[in-house]
Amino acid sequence: MKRAVMRTDRYFEIGKVDNRLFGSFLEHMGRAVYEGIYQPESDFADENGIRTDTSALIREMGVSTVRYPGGNFVSAYNWEDGVGPREKRPVRLEAAWQNLEDNSFGTNEFAEWSVKNGIIPMMAVNLGTRGVDAAKNLLEYCNFPGGTYYSDLRIKHGFARPHNIKLWCLGNEMDGPWQIGHRDADDYASLAAQTAKVMKDIDPEIELVACGSAGSGMATFGKWDATVAMRCMKYIDYVSMHAYFDNRNRTPEDTSDYLAHALAFEEQIKSVIACCDYASAVNKTKKRINLSIDEWNAVYRPHGKLPADVRWTKAPHQIEDVYNLEDALLVGSLFMTMFNHADRVKISCLAQLVNVIAPIMTSDKGAWRQTIFYPFMYCSRYGKGTALQSCVECEKYDSKHYSDVPYIFSSVIFDDDNGRLAVFIMNRDLEEDCILESDLRQFENYAVERHIAVGGDDIKAVNSEQITDAVRGKDRPAGSTLDESILRSVIEKHSFNVILLKRQNKTI
Ligand code: AHR
Repeated sequence: MKRAVMRTDRYFEIGKVDNRLFGSFLEHMGRAVYEGIYQPESDFADENGIRTDTSALIREMGVSTVRYPGGNFVSAYNWEDGVGPREKRPVRLEAAWQNLEDNSFGTNEFAEWSVKNGIIPMMAVNLGTRGVDAAKNLLEYCNFPGGTYYSDLRIKHGFARPHNIKLWCLGNEMDGPWQIGHRDADDYASLAAQTAKVMKDIDPEIELVACGSAGSGMATFGKWDATVAMRCMKYIDYVSMHAYFDNRNRTPEDTSDYLAHALAFEEQIKSVIACCDYASAVNKTKKRINLSIDEWNAVYRPHGKLPADVRWTKAPHQIEDVYNLEDALLVGSLFMTMFNHADRVKISCLAQLVNVIAPIMTSDKGAWRQTIFYPFMYCSRYGKGTALQSCVECEKYDSKHYSDVPYIFSSVIFDDDNGRLAVFIMNRDLEEDCILESDLRQFENYAVERHIAVGGDDIKAVNSEQITDAVRGKDRPAGSTLDESILRSVIEKHSFNVILLKRQNKTI
């Protein structure tokens, strides 16, 4: 068994964890919206056609924010198609994903669904085929109380009260050559700044996310982010970051490398922060643009074209990746990385929410949890409070793309108000368990409340409609003990752990 030491300090704060870090993403694509969220003919549908089984799992998972309607989809979307009487809504060829889009679910349904599920809506505007005008009209439709053309149209459509959507994305992945209406950095930055200005004039309370580069592997990465931050500095609050980690064609030997991807994720976060801060310096402003990591996940299948036999059909099965334990570990470690940058990463959206590269899957018989559901759920439940600095002394390894990868990875969240400390630990070791001693000397009068682990012998284990719980979180009552502020834990090989400590009431 290996040994490691973790140290943390309650006064070395990184930053408060923004509740919007526990976001997800719902795109009109495949079976995400149709059959995932909305399916009037389903046995599980409520009177509005919303799948209640999916909604229950979304609430259990603790999703705080949902980005909608895309993704690549938004870059050719006419929002007007999705409002008003359903029978009048047009059926369109959806060009980004080659689906048939009947627009039976649109802005109002999304806003209503968000309210019902306690979700903060994050709406994207089309800066691909459209621009300032459509964005400003959509904002007026959603947020203006009444007495204008678009606000009155919303009222006519049955929504007397404004939706008051306060978080908006200025397009999607606009440096990607695959993006409909793709632009170069200067073109996009100029369009985003003009759109942002008008939108903030209409509703000064909104927050805006401009597109950062679509990924760290893009030739445009870095320069694009800096250009956008520099030119939109006055109007935007966040630059987006997207990160997908490819798990296709992996041999078992590649697993150690795969589990180290949080290192690349962290590098990407630091680079985007550097671009934003460079823009602040050049603009001679104290304003800081923060990060919205509004698409991230593990992926297996390429996001390419649909096979001809299902092209232009409604809700085809599209990139419905099946996740295993190693993907759950990766997702846990990416969350921990974001906790460790809680001062600058304020929003994150696991891409996506239902059926399409998703933690939740549906069929006619019900909804079930994929492996990646669990780390998300534990992070959203227990990752509330202030992220503290922590450091680990442990053995390290080299893999295909990384060197000096620590076997043990930590992040710590302290919720002073509720007297709870959550210690998140991931063990990347594929062979050995680890005895971890955590020095919590500034946390007197605490007791171990729970030690939960997502792990198991088979790192390739998956959940399915038939076996829904091959991978899940399990309580390890004897996993951790606390003695004189030293927490001793046995961290099993390839596992993601949350150790909860609770402040004890002092008896006088
Ligand atoms: O999540 C699937 C797609 O991945 C999104 O539409 C796009 O933004 C990204 O490339």
